[in-house]
Order: sequence, then structure tokens, then C-alpha cells
Amino acid sequence: MDLSSLPREKWWGDEYLVHLEGFWFGPQRVKPIKRVINHYNPFPSDVILVTFPKTGTTWLKSLLYSILNRSSKHKLVAEHPHELIPFLELQVFAEADEPLVLAAPSNEPRLFATHIPYQLLTKTLESSDCKVVYLTRNPKDTLVSFWHFVNKWNKENPHQSWSLDEATDRFCRGVTPYGPYYDHVLGYKELSLKKPENVMFVTYEEIQEDPHGYVKKLGDFLGCPFGKEDEVDEIVKNCSIEVLSSLDVNKSEKSPTWFPSSPYNSFFRKGKIGDYKNYLSDESIQRIDTLTKDRFYSLGFMYGI
Ligand code: A3P
Repeated sequence: MDLSSLPREKWWGDEYLVHLEGFWFGPQRVKPIKRVINHYNPFPSDVILVTFPKTGTTWLKSLLYSILNRSSKHKLVAEHPHELIPFLELQVFAEADEPLVLAAPSNEPRLFATHIPYQLLTKTLESSDCKVVYLTRNPKDTLVSFWHFVNKWNKENPHQSWSLDEATDRFCRGVTPYGPYYDHVLGYKELSLKKPENVMFVTYEEIQEDPHGYVKKLGDFLGCPFGKEDEVDEIVKNCSIEVLSSLDVNKSEKSPTWFPSSPYNSFFRKGKIGDYKNYLSDESIQRIDTLTKDRFYSLGFMYGI
């Protein structure tokens, strides 16, 4: 594909995004995303975690891994959650049409993650019986988390920092990686209504409010229900931001080879609901809430404010 033929827009700093089939992506992501679309044939036993960036992917990776591999709790101590569950477009199909991970070591389900919107993966997901867990988060907290995350990329050049007003404007116009956020969420919401046995749609806030209940629900959905409540409590504790962010592997200043701009420790910050109140102006809050009402409430999806 000729990238120069795609519409492009400035994102932050000198970075720009390109527009492909209604969504915005970093130009380096386009080829791997195309590979996933064209070559990934999920096994019916595959489990795919889908998220919009900064909605709690790291947390859900640790939870899903722990739910499906109950005897491997030491793995969370040895490996960052992003190394336990690879991203399809960043790791598995990063270099070649043939995926790096072809088969699971045993009959256990393969676990993958992706940020690719449903609108681009419709054929892949509709023709498969694989399980999808879609996680979303309040748009204002997602934006603020994204803004902090991107500004960490600027360590060497702090006065070139990205203003929150600019980030808010990009977010509202949908010009953010894998954006527009609203189309991303609505795509998977629609899929979850179409295929409720295969797709579980959850929110960051619901899990924060009842982690024990949601770990059990995820276990039921994935076909591995819990017998003992203690086991659930242990997973909730081991995957809490307090415990995860205190592990050496997650405190590391090193960056993954597949995401060189972001040290492993940058995936953990506050992990709170409503942190946007500490950052966004009233005007920005109003702008986002109006958009949320327009895009979500008008369809009866009363979420995000
Ligand atoms: P904040 O920046 O609001 O703190 P992602 O994993 O999709 O990149 O999302 C990152 C966000 O999830 C960050 O939010 C991060 O702090 C939060 N997070 C990471 N691990 C978490 C955990 N175990 N529990 C709750 N939130 C977590």
C-alpha cells in the first residue's frame, strides 16, 4: 500500500497520523494492521482482548492471563503483562504475514490483544467462534491517560511538551491513534450485541467497582469458572496496580523492542476513576460530554459522562 496516498493529519510534535477506512493510525502501523486483517484466522479457542489505547489494557492482560493460567502466578512476577499477551499488530504480525506465534504450546487457548477497530476486523471476527473481551473506559480519563503517556515520550525535550488543549482537540476530532474513540467503542458494542456468547463488553469502571465479581464473570465467559473464592481474591490482588507496579519487571525503565518509545513502567500511573477532574478545564469537559451525549446517549448507550 502506498502510504502517501492516504490522508494525513498532524498529531503531536512532528508526528502525524494517516487515515485508513475511517480510522487514524501511526503510519508505521498500517502494514502490520493490513497483515492482521488479511492473514489472521483465529482458532475458535483463541481469546482476544480488544481495547482502545489507555483504557486499561495492561490491567486486563494481567487479569486474563491469570484467569486462564491459574497455576502460573509466578509469571506475573517474571514478565510484564504486555509480554504475556502479545498485540497482534505490534508483535505477532509485526514483521511478516506468517504470525510469530502459530500454535499454543498445548490445547490451551491462545491469548492475543489488539487495538484494531471492529470496522476493520469485521470479517475476521464474524467468521470465527473465538472469544473477544472488549474493554472500554470513560473518554475523559482515557484522554488524560493518553496525554500523560505521550508526554513521557518527550523526556529528552520537555519544553516540546504536548498541551492538554491540543490533545483534547485531537481526541474530540478523532485524530488519535486508532481513533475516533467513539467509533471504536460503538463498533465493539454492536458486535457484543450481535454475538453475546462470543463477545464480552466491559468497562474499566465496572471492574474497578467490583473486581471480584468481574474476575468471576470473565472466568465464566471464558469457560473456566472459579470453584474457590480465595482464588478469585488472589488474582484481584496480584493484578492490582499497587502490586503490579511494585514488581521489578514493571518498574523497568527499559522499553519493549516492539514499542521503543514507552518504557515498561509507563503503563502504570494512577489507575483511578475520575482523574480527569484534576486536569481538564470546564470547557473541555463540556465539549467531551456533549460529544458523548451525541455519539453514545443518542443510541441509548448511557456511558461515558
Ligand atoms: P492512568 O493513566 O489513568 O493511571 P493501558 O494499559 O490501556 O495503556 O492503560 C493505562 C491505564 O491503565 C493507566 O491509567 C494505568 O495507570 C492504568 N492501569 C495500569 N495497570 C492497572 C491496574 N492493574 N489496575 C488499574 N489500572 C491500571
